[in-house]
Amino acid sequence: MFNRLTYTSAGESHGPGVTMILSGIPAGLKFDVAFFEYELEKRNLDMGRGKRGAIEQNAYMLTGGVRHGITIGSPISIYFPNADYANWQQRMDPLLKPERITPITTPRPGHADFVGSVKYGFRDMRNALERASARETLARVAAGAIAQMLLKKCGCDVAAYVSYLGDKAYREPPVGMHPSDIRSKTQANIGYVFDIGELPRMQQQIDRARDAGTTLGGQLKFVLWGCPVGLGSYTDIQNRLDARLAMALMSIPSVKGVVLGAAIEQSRLHGSKTQDIVTAESSKTHHIYQSNMNGGLTAGVTNGLPLTGSIFLKPLSTQRKALRSIDADGHLKTAHKERSDVSAVGRATTVVSAMVALVVLDAVLEKFGGDAVTEIEQRLDSWRKAHPVIELRPDA
Ligand SMILES: Cc1cc2nc3c(=O)[nH]c(=O)nc-3n(C[C@H](O)[C@H](O)[C@H](O)COP(=O)(O)O)c2cc1C
Repeated sequence: MFNRLTYTSAGESHGPGVTMILSGIPAGLKFDVAFFEYELEKRNLDMGRGKRGAIEQNAYMLTGGVRHGITIGSPISIYFPNADYANWQQRMDPLLKPERITPITTPRPGHADFVGSVKYGFRDMRNALERASARETLARVAAGAIAQMLLKKCGCDVAAYVSYLGDKAYREPPVGMHPSDIRSKTQANIGYVFDIGELPRMQQQIDRARDAGTTLGGQLKFVLWGCPVGLGSYTDIQNRLDARLAMALMSIPSVKGVVLGAAIEQSRLHGSKTQDIVTAESSKTHHIYQSNMNGGLTAGVTNGLPLTGSIFLKPLSTQRKALRSIDADGHLKTAHKERSDVSAVGRATTVVSAMVALVVLDAVLEKFGGDAVTEIEQRLDSWRKAHPVIELRPDA
């Protein structure tokens, strides 16, 4: 998935904390504290959230790779203590085992409990569910925020928004709108919708699901502007940027589908209606397109148009009424229950932006990489000057 960056995280949902390590970020990047903290906060906030949102806090400690507010080229490491650990210490202490502990032996449907316990040979399924929990997305958002800081220096900007909650569609930004304009609307509300006039309708939809003791899935869209032509490659399967994006997005818990560009519409139309063709006013130095059906990628390589795609999330598996399950001895029982939300579709926009940013930054570093930010800026600048400007002009 990443050819230049190395990303890893460690830590359990109710353990002492979560650690993120990101290496491959060049020296000389200003660490934008306000943006970083904003992204962390956005990952917490969602109209469909339950009590856990109030418990989780965004305390963190930068423990490597940044000095006096600037990256120094070494791995960036960040530690996020889990605020709730005090209440879980007995059950989650890394070394001390309490005399009595009740193991989880009946798996929750739709969660890692069963597969994890079989795969790793656990009797107590907590060992599996703690790490499979979406608490881990905190580390992704942290790494993605750093990726976005550098991408901004490279002229790239990303936004994600909710286009469906359950089976209800929400208004989308006009095609061709810049991500910063999209974000100024969608990030200003915790429904992550473009039109805040639709928030009461969303609240009703969430309340209805909550009253019925159930949960909602949905669809998100992302758009990233500013990629130069030529990121990724068709030469080897692991280099295709479409495949790398799909993998990164698919790895987000509860994401069950990734679509790049307008693939669903394309698959249903004749080929004559699905091509992105330059307009008649285009010139050697300026290519103008009316459409972007391929979502900014041709043959796994960026073509200079915005990167676009959709992500489909299943409804959260945990229901208010515990579901039927089967334990290791074959007894039918009701599953164990953990605290849960009604929907995570909105706050998943932050995770989606993070993953898209990491993949694109990785491809930028692959093509223009250097040890210092200034080297990358210079190389990117001369590349841009040597190639035509690519413009999406839907009304051309
Ligand atoms: C931001 C975020 C928050 C989530 N919160 C919950 C939750 O509160 N309850 C739940 O049942 N699943 C939640 N999930 C989904 C589960 O983590 C996921 O469905 C489970 O680990 C199984 O993985 P899979 O759905 O990819 O197969 C969340 C996912 C994300 C991205």
